[in-house]
Amino acid sequence: MLRYAGWLALASLGGAAGCSRHADPTPTAAKPAIADTGARLFNGNCIACHQEGARGLPGVYPSLVSSPVLLGDPKDLARWVVRGQRPVSMPAGRYPTLMPAFGWMKPGDVAALLTYLRSHFGNEASAVDAATVTEALDE
Ligand code: HEC
Repeated sequence: MLRYAGWLALASLGGAAGCSRHADPTPTAAKPAIADTGARLFNGNCIACHQEGARGLPGVYPSLVSSPVLLGDPKDLARWVVRGQRPVSMPAGRYPTLMPAFGWMKPGDVAALLTYLRSHFGNEASAVDAATVTEALDE
């Protein structure tokens, strides 16, 4: 039920909170669709904690801008978001709050979301593809 509510909220957010301002000025045909999916997933599932612009809330939720985890190894990142498996670069106990795992997300959606986050909000890191996400979760 929660999941459907999330999807509805994200569907309605799509237009207003899309990322056209941040879009790559010279996108290939595939890029806008990936960015749209990533933006919708972020707005529907992550923004409540990680906030507008992914800037976080000091002492409560980490910023995803220049986050070493977000910009680091894509497989470690996928395992954290999907399974809540903590990478070594991310010590426990920094935040009094918890992050839910997003095990229901399909690899293609995780890839779009992570690619979006790694290329927006001032972040510059490589794209993540679905095969990498699948491999990460198989390891
Ligand atoms: C309920 C609040 C909440 C939601 C929703 C949430 N997160 Fe988090 N996130 C956290 C907290 C708290 C941490 C820090 C966890 C820790 O260090 O133990 C975190 C950490 C992270 C980190 C590591 C950042 C760093 O540098 O330490 C990433 C990447 C991340 N979240 C991505 C996401 C993504 C992507 C989504 C949406 C699919 C999401 N989060 C949804 C609360 C949330």
